[in-house]
Amino acid sequence: MDFPRVIVNYKTYESGIAEGGIKLALIMQEKGRGYFGISPQVVDTSLIAKQVNIPVFSQHADPLDVDRATGWILPRTLARIGVYGVLLNHSEHPMPLGRIRDTINLSKQYGLKTLVCAESPSQAREIAKLGPDAVAVEPPELIGTKTSVSEAEPGVVTNTVKNIHDINPNILVFVGAGIHTKEDVAQALKLGAYGVLLASGVMKSDNVEKEIDDLAEGADSGLHK
Ligand code: G3P
Repeated sequence: MDFPRVIVNYKTYESGIAEGGIKLALIMQEKGRGYFGISPQVVDTSLIAKQVNIPVFSQHADPLDVDRATGWILPRTLARIGVYGVLLNHSEHPMPLGRIRDTINLSKQYGLKTLVCAESPSQAREIAKLGPDAVAVEPPELIGTKTSVSEAEPGVVTNTVKNIHDINPNILVFVGAGIHTKEDVAQALKLGAYGVLLASGVMKSDNVEKEIDDLAEGADSGLHK
């Protein structure tokens, strides 16, 4: 499976819990033109991963590989239940750099892709040095708003792309925060991002099918500039 270009983080939104989360994922699978991946609530990961054929990311993972680890999320368990990758260091679940590094390394051993969040282009550079598959920059002040990072802060996108590609041009660059229209997606890709990470635009939408169709159209037009 290719690394998806539009990843919907379900966070803890009510609309993504259990059956609701499966329904949403199936719409993305059907209408998303092959662009979509999802990151459901950790407690629903296994349930949803079994029902869909789009890439599923765990919202977190821990660098542990033992039988006695009550309450922790192990990469080997995620690999066993068919998860595609792990989302690490979201600003709502920050991790120290050493822990990010150890989790990236352990996840790779189990064949999981790693997508690590950063709050700024300079933090993105530090994270790129740890060797993830992808880095997502998300200015925290724009998260959950209708102000898209790609429209309001194009410099954040271009500086992150530069910083990361100076370290390793193979690392995929994602941007997130406030992305909810096709123009937001198209603009992010035109500025050099590989993909986008978003939540409220889909999770709080009154018309999810249209929203997903719009976002996929934005990806199409951003790639065929
Ligand atoms: O991980 C995605 C995220 O933090 C952005 O949230 O609601 O601004 O799309 P939102």
